[in-house]
Amino acid sequence: MAATLKVGPDEKVRIRVKVNGVWYERDVEPRKLLVHFLREDLGLTSVHVGCDTGHCGACTVIMNGVSVKSCQVLAVQADGAEILTLEGLAKDGKLHPIQEAFWEKHALQCGYCTPGFIMETYWLLSENSNPTEEEIRRGLSGNLCRCTGYQNIIEAVKLAVQKLKELKTIQ
Ligand code: FES
Ligand code: FES
Repeated sequence: MAATLKVGPDEKVRIRVKVNGVWYERDVEPRKLLVHFLREDLGLTSVHVGCDTGHCGACTVIMNGVSVKSCQVLAVQADGAEILTLEGLAKDGKLHPIQEAFWEKHALQCGYCTPGFIMETYWLLSENSNPTEEEIRRGLSGNLCRCTGYQNIIEAVKLAVQKLKELKTIQ
Protein backbone atom coordinates (compact mmCIF):
# COMPACT_ATOMS: atom_id res chain seq x y z
CA MET A 1 0.00 0.00 0.00
CA ALA A 2 1.46 3.38 -1.01
CA ALA A 3 2.11 5.74 1.88
CA THR A 4 2.77 9.44 1.27
CA LEU A 5 3.30 10.29 -2.37
CA LYS A 6 5.71 13.09 -3.13
CA VAL A 7 4.89 13.54 -6.78
CA GLY A 8 2.92 16.06 -8.77
CA PRO A 9 -0.52 15.16 -10.10
CA ASP A 10 0.80 14.67 -13.63
CA GLU A 11 3.82 12.60 -12.66
CA LYS A 12 3.45 8.84 -12.85
CA VAL A 13 4.14 6.32 -10.14
CA ARG A 14 5.20 2.74 -10.77
CA ILE A 15 2.92 0.18 -9.16
CA ARG A 16 2.98 -3.61 -9.07
CA VAL A 17 -0.24 -5.56 -8.66
CA LYS A 18 -1.18 -9.21 -8.95
CA VAL A 19 -4.44 -9.45 -10.85
CA ASN A 20 -6.15 -12.79 -11.46
CA GLY A 21 -2.90 -14.56 -10.62
CA VAL A 22 -0.60 -12.50 -12.86
CA TRP A 23 1.77 -9.75 -11.69
CA TYR A 24 1.68 -6.47 -13.64
CA GLU A 25 3.94 -3.42 -13.36
CA ARG A 26 2.59 -0.17 -14.72
CA ASP A 27 3.21 3.58 -14.38
CA VAL A 28 0.04 5.37 -13.28
CA GLU A 29 -1.00 8.90 -12.42
CA PRO A 30 -1.47 9.20 -8.64
CA ARG A 31 -5.06 10.36 -9.15
CA LYS A 32 -6.08 7.39 -11.30
CA LEU A 33 -8.84 5.25 -9.78
CA LEU A 34 -8.39 1.51 -9.50
CA VAL A 35 -11.49 0.93 -11.64
CA HIS A 36 -9.96 2.92 -14.50
CA PHE A 37 -6.59 1.20 -14.06
CA LEU A 38 -8.21 -2.24 -14.31
CA ARG A 39 -10.32 -1.28 -17.32
CA GLU A 40 -7.94 0.94 -19.29
CA ASP A 41 -4.46 -0.30 -18.37
CA LEU A 42 -5.23 -4.01 -18.00
CA GLY A 43 -8.27 -4.31 -20.30
CA LEU A 44 -10.44 -5.94 -17.61
CA THR A 45 -13.75 -4.53 -18.79
CA SER A 46 -15.92 -6.67 -16.52
CA VAL A 47 -15.19 -4.01 -13.90
CA HIS A 48 -17.98 -1.58 -14.65
CA VAL A 49 -18.41 2.08 -13.80
CA GLY A 50 -21.95 2.75 -12.68
CA CYS A 51 -21.86 5.78 -10.43
CA ASP A 52 -18.24 6.64 -9.53
CA THR A 53 -19.49 7.58 -6.07
CA GLY A 54 -19.42 4.27 -4.20
CA HIS A 55 -23.17 3.64 -4.32
CA CYS A 56 -23.88 1.06 -7.03
CA GLY A 57 -21.28 -1.71 -6.64
CA ALA A 58 -20.84 -2.22 -10.39
CA CYS A 59 -17.07 -1.81 -9.90
CA THR A 60 -16.73 -4.42 -7.12
CA VAL A 61 -13.53 -6.49 -7.08
CA ILE A 62 -11.76 -8.54 -4.42
CA MET A 63 -8.59 -6.89 -3.11
CA ASN A 64 -6.42 -8.80 -0.66
CA GLY A 65 -9.37 -11.06 0.08
CA VAL A 66 -11.85 -8.26 0.78
CA SER A 67 -14.57 -6.88 -1.45
CA VAL A 68 -13.89 -3.28 -2.48
CA LYS A 69 -15.59 -0.78 -4.72
CA SER A 70 -12.77 -0.03 -7.09
CA CYS A 71 -14.07 3.47 -7.84
CA GLN A 72 -13.27 4.30 -4.22
CA VAL A 73 -9.64 3.15 -4.35
CA LEU A 74 -6.71 4.85 -6.07
CA ALA A 75 -4.60 2.61 -8.26
CA VAL A 76 -1.53 3.60 -6.22
CA GLN A 77 -3.26 2.29 -3.09
CA ALA A 78 -3.36 -1.14 -4.74
CA ASP A 79 0.44 -1.26 -5.06
CA GLY A 80 1.52 -4.74 -3.91
CA ALA A 81 -2.06 -6.00 -3.67
CA GLU A 82 -3.67 -9.15 -5.01
CA ILE A 83 -6.87 -8.49 -6.94
CA LEU A 84 -9.52 -10.81 -8.29
CA THR A 85 -11.96 -9.66 -10.97
CA LEU A 86 -14.71 -11.54 -12.76
CA GLU A 87 -12.23 -12.48 -15.51
CA GLY A 88 -10.34 -14.54 -12.91
CA LEU A 89 -13.28 -16.70 -11.81
CA ALA A 90 -13.75 -19.13 -14.69
CA LYS A 91 -11.16 -21.91 -14.80
CA ASP A 92 -10.13 -23.97 -17.84
CA GLY A 93 -13.03 -22.61 -19.88
CA LYS A 94 -15.58 -23.60 -17.22
CA LEU A 95 -17.71 -21.01 -15.48
CA HIS A 96 -17.31 -20.62 -11.72
CA PRO A 97 -20.26 -22.15 -9.80
CA ILE A 98 -21.47 -18.66 -8.86
CA GLN A 99 -21.50 -17.70 -12.55
CA GLU A 100 -23.33 -20.94 -13.37
CA ALA A 101 -25.92 -20.18 -10.71
CA PHE A 102 -26.54 -16.66 -12.09
CA TRP A 103 -26.88 -18.20 -15.56
CA GLU A 104 -29.24 -20.96 -14.46
CA LYS A 105 -31.48 -18.66 -12.41
CA HIS A 106 -31.55 -15.94 -15.10
CA ALA A 107 -30.24 -13.48 -12.53
CA LEU A 108 -29.67 -10.68 -15.00
CA GLN A 109 -31.48 -8.51 -17.46
CA CYS A 110 -29.16 -5.93 -19.07
CA GLY A 111 -26.25 -7.46 -17.16
CA TYR A 112 -24.55 -4.20 -16.27
CA CYS A 113 -24.61 -4.88 -12.54
CA THR A 114 -23.85 -8.60 -12.86
CA PRO A 115 -20.04 -8.67 -12.50
CA GLY A 116 -20.31 -6.57 -9.34
CA PHE A 117 -23.04 -8.80 -7.90
CA ILE A 118 -21.05 -11.93 -8.69
CA MET A 119 -17.87 -10.58 -7.08
CA GLU A 120 -19.80 -9.43 -4.01
CA THR A 121 -21.41 -12.89 -3.83
CA TYR A 122 -17.95 -14.45 -4.07
CA TRP A 123 -16.83 -12.43 -1.06
CA LEU A 124 -20.06 -13.02 0.85
CA LEU A 125 -19.77 -16.80 0.42
CA SER A 126 -16.03 -16.70 1.21
CA GLU A 127 -16.96 -15.20 4.57
CA ASN A 128 -20.13 -17.21 5.21
CA SER A 129 -20.65 -20.43 3.26
CA ASN A 130 -24.21 -20.96 4.51
CA PRO A 131 -25.96 -17.56 4.70
CA THR A 132 -29.63 -17.12 5.49
CA GLU A 133 -31.75 -15.23 2.97
CA GLU A 134 -31.60 -12.21 5.24
CA GLU A 135 -27.79 -12.43 5.35
CA ILE A 136 -27.70 -12.67 1.55
CA ARG A 137 -29.92 -9.61 1.20
CA ARG A 138 -27.85 -7.67 3.71
CA GLY A 139 -24.60 -8.85 2.13
CA LEU A 140 -25.66 -7.62 -1.31
CA SER A 141 -27.24 -4.39 -0.10
CA GLY A 142 -24.31 -2.32 -1.40
CA ASN A 143 -25.00 -3.43 -4.97
CA LEU A 144 -27.77 -1.91 -7.07
CA CYS A 145 -29.56 -3.37 -10.07
CA ARG A 146 -31.21 -0.72 -12.23
CA CYS A 147 -33.29 -3.44 -13.88
CA THR A 148 -34.49 -4.40 -10.37
CA GLY A 149 -33.99 -8.13 -10.88
CA TYR A 150 -33.26 -8.69 -7.21
CA GLN A 151 -35.43 -11.77 -6.65
CA ASN A 152 -33.61 -13.89 -9.23
CA ILE A 153 -30.27 -12.64 -7.91
CA ILE A 154 -31.20 -13.90 -4.43
CA GLU A 155 -32.28 -17.24 -5.93
CA ALA A 156 -28.96 -17.46 -7.79
CA VAL A 157 -26.98 -16.88 -4.61
CA LYS A 158 -28.96 -19.63 -2.86
CA LEU A 159 -28.22 -21.99 -5.76
CA ALA A 160 -24.53 -21.01 -5.62
CA VAL A 161 -24.51 -21.93 -1.93
CA GLN A 162 -25.78 -25.43 -2.82
CA LYS A 163 -23.27 -25.83 -5.65
CA LEU A 164 -20.36 -24.75 -3.46
CA LYS A 165 -21.45 -27.08 -0.65
CA GLU A 166 -21.13 -30.00 -3.04
CA LEU A 167 -17.71 -28.85 -4.22
CA LYS A 168 -16.56 -27.92 -0.67
CA THR A 169 -14.49 -25.00 -2.05
CA ILE A 170 -15.09 -21.56 -3.52
CA GLN A 171 -11.87 -21.59 -5.60
FE1 FES B 1 -18.15 2.13 -8.00
FE2 FES B 1 -20.71 2.62 -8.52
S1 FES B 1 -19.02 2.66 -9.89
S2 FES B 1 -19.81 1.95 -6.65
FE1 FES C 1 -29.52 -4.44 -15.54
FE2 FES C 1 -28.86 -5.24 -13.09
S1 FES C 1 -29.44 -6.48 -14.80
S2 FES C 1 -28.66 -3.27 -13.92
